[in-house]
Amino acid sequence: MSLASLAHASGNPRWIWSDGKIIAWDQATVHVNAAGHAGVTAVFEGIKAYVSRDGGHLQAFRLDDHLARLLHSARICRLDVPFDLAEAREGVLELLRVNEYRTDTYVRPWIFPEGVIREVMVPDGARCRLVIDSWPFQSALGAPRGCRAAVSSWTRPPDASTPARVKAFANYHNGRLALIEARQNGHDFPILLNDRRKVSEAPSSCVALVRDGQVVTPSLTSDVLQSITAGTVAELCAQLGIAMVHREVDRTELYLADELFLMGTGVEVLPIGAIDGLPVGDGSAGPVTSRIRQAYQDLVRGAGSPAHAGWLSPV
Ligand SMILES: Cc1ncc(COP(=O)(O)O)c(C=O)c1O
Repeated sequence: MSLASLAHASGNPRWIWSDGKIIAWDQATVHVNAAGHAGVTAVFEGIKAYVSRDGGHLQAFRLDDHLARLLHSARICRLDVPFDLAEAREGVLELLRVNEYRTDTYVRPWIFPEGVIREVMVPDGARCRLVIDSWPFQSALGAPRGCRAAVSSWTRPPDASTPARVKAFANYHNGRLALIEARQNGHDFPILLNDRRKVSEAPSSCVALVRDGQVVTPSLTSDVLQSITAGTVAELCAQLGIAMVHREVDRTELYLADELFLMGTGVEVLPIGAIDGLPVGDGSAGPVTSRIRQAYQDLVRGAGSPAHAGWLSPV
């Protein structure tokens, strides 16, 4: 199948943003030997743009925060990025405009070293490219049932080994192994412990538990990505009068939680209905999770508090 027909068949967009230029999606190719492209060196972001409830226009959610994290990941990995945050922001918005999206859209910018052929140990300071892709997604914010989660036998690597704080494609090898195990055992998502045997995160989201009305999520030094959604949920909790703390979390706290949920740009706010086969509440979103989820949905659709209007970038 040619690239052009692949683009058409799988509903890919017409355009992609590549190093400051909008180019045809099927022309955005690299050589098979381009080791930096999506290998150990590349860092990326996952961003969502939602259709607003009033008027149906598209707005990117927390765009600057995601791009700032992208640049932080590049800094830790010593990647020399030829664009600043404002240029990257303009690139995302331009891409969303030219593709003429009318639906909720996922945006993936990634940075990779240019022209590195076969060499996996990319030298530091290698000049990099920034590419931004996008595709439609379906929000799961309305789905009533909770997912099934299980504590994984795989361990989240420590910061001194493979830092989870960096959003690098390479980190997802660990998450993928955990996901395969979870799915083989009939669960939807794994929850990984870190090497101190404390709760860390899921492969593409972080974990929160609710006990006695308080929301608890692992501290930022629990070998987790510093989740933008967790930051959003913290602000929503403050607004809703719900206490939320970041601290170390033991595995057995998951079993005693009144409610459990996952948070992330991809999963949004997703209730967990069972953990290691133990039911959590009645298996659907509990009262605290439901309030947070509704507030999150209002916020991303432009119907939240005016205090957070700055988190929405109109396309
Ligand atoms: C490993 C991992 N942890 C947590 C998250 C949640 O982060 P965020 O809320 O910023 O999307 C993600 C998603 O990006 C992730 O990939």
